[in-house]
Amino acid sequence: MNKRHFLGTLAAAVLASSAGSAFAQDNTFKIGLILPMTGPFASTGKQVEAAVKLYMAQNGDTVAGKKVQVILKDDTSAPDVTKRLAQELVVNDKVNVLAGFGLTPLALACAPIATQSKTPLVVMAAATSSITEASPYIIRTSFTLPQAAVGIADWAPKNGIKKVVSLVADYGPGLDAEKYFRERFTFNGGVVVEALRVPMRNPDFSPFLQKVRDDKPDALFAFVPSGEGAALMKQFIERGMDKAGIKLIGTGDITDDDQLNGMGDATIGVVTAHHYSASHNSALNKKFVDAFGKANNGLRPNFMAVGGYDGMHVIYEAAKTTQGGRGDALLAAMKGQVFESPRGPMFIDAQTRDVVHNIYIRKVEKVNGQLWNQEFDVIKDVKDPGKVK
Ligand code: DHB
Repeated sequence: MNKRHFLGTLAAAVLASSAGSAFAQDNTFKIGLILPMTGPFASTGKQVEAAVKLYMAQNGDTVAGKKVQVILKDDTSAPDVTKRLAQELVVNDKVNVLAGFGLTPLALACAPIATQSKTPLVVMAAATSSITEASPYIIRTSFTLPQAAVGIADWAPKNGIKKVVSLVADYGPGLDAEKYFRERFTFNGGVVVEALRVPMRNPDFSPFLQKVRDDKPDALFAFVPSGEGAALMKQFIERGMDKAGIKLIGTGDITDDDQLNGMGDATIGVVTAHHYSASHNSALNKKFVDAFGKANNGLRPNFMAVGGYDGMHVIYEAAKTTQGGRGDALLAAMKGQVFESPRGPMFIDAQTRDVVHNIYIRKVEKVNGQLWNQEFDVIKDVKDPGKVK
């Protein structure tokens, strides 16, 4: 090869590769999806990932002429890992949006990265009220604990429950659940006689439940994160709480659709408040639950799945509006979106960037041989009480 020919080939190669990378940049819309795929909260990762895949199967993998690329990373539910992964996704992969976030500490760890890089960050799972205040680039499609806790605190005193012990996982969402339940329940004339906090990871509920028995409340109000509900229920029954006449109430996290069917008939009658039940009665939800089950060996979608599915909707719609944009333009197009979710109507409050949706009061019932959270009452268009000052 002579020198001239070599240089010409090199120039062509450089051109081709830079054109190639420009092409890749311009024709790809990248979503960095960070979830706990292993470890104690892997069910959350599995549910959200399955919902993201379903959304793309139903809505295509191109948006505004760009190929949607989801880069999935497992943070093992360790905040330092989540933060490092978010940094890499922003700096190396140049993602348009960060999404996922299975637990509050994991979302909070990434807030500074979203702010500094002006990357919209869609919280699909975590639910402590304050998360959206940690960065102006955070949007939430999951729910907030105050929304659910206030719902059940309104229902309980009207239904013969006046004396309650609360039991919550000892971190952000649990502290929100405890506080907002107590405030509203007390306002409604009830009394919380004891507030118990259990470790967030692998809690042993037995010693706490013994205290509850001794306190003899009308009901135990509980919050534990998704994945721990079955263990709580098992120990609640083993300790003979239901036989002692102590009812169980809570946010819908404790009768999680991911585990409910395996929890047994002792759950029948448990009343909770939540934004999503797999048995929500709408055509859109029936289609969602059917398609989700078909694609995942019969798995029932839970509230984590719906947060992931709706998060994808918010991202796709914003990508359409901005022709596959990023930064402030993409963020602006996420704010104020109004749409029908499998959970019912929902919107993203443009001021708070948080989700506004219905909170349903539900009771566990057996229908056609399966356990379901059957919605029987609704509080419409609930804003996060943590932000209504
Ligand atoms: C959070 C995690 C959960 O699994 C849940 O059910 C609610 C809140 C959280 O860490 O924010």
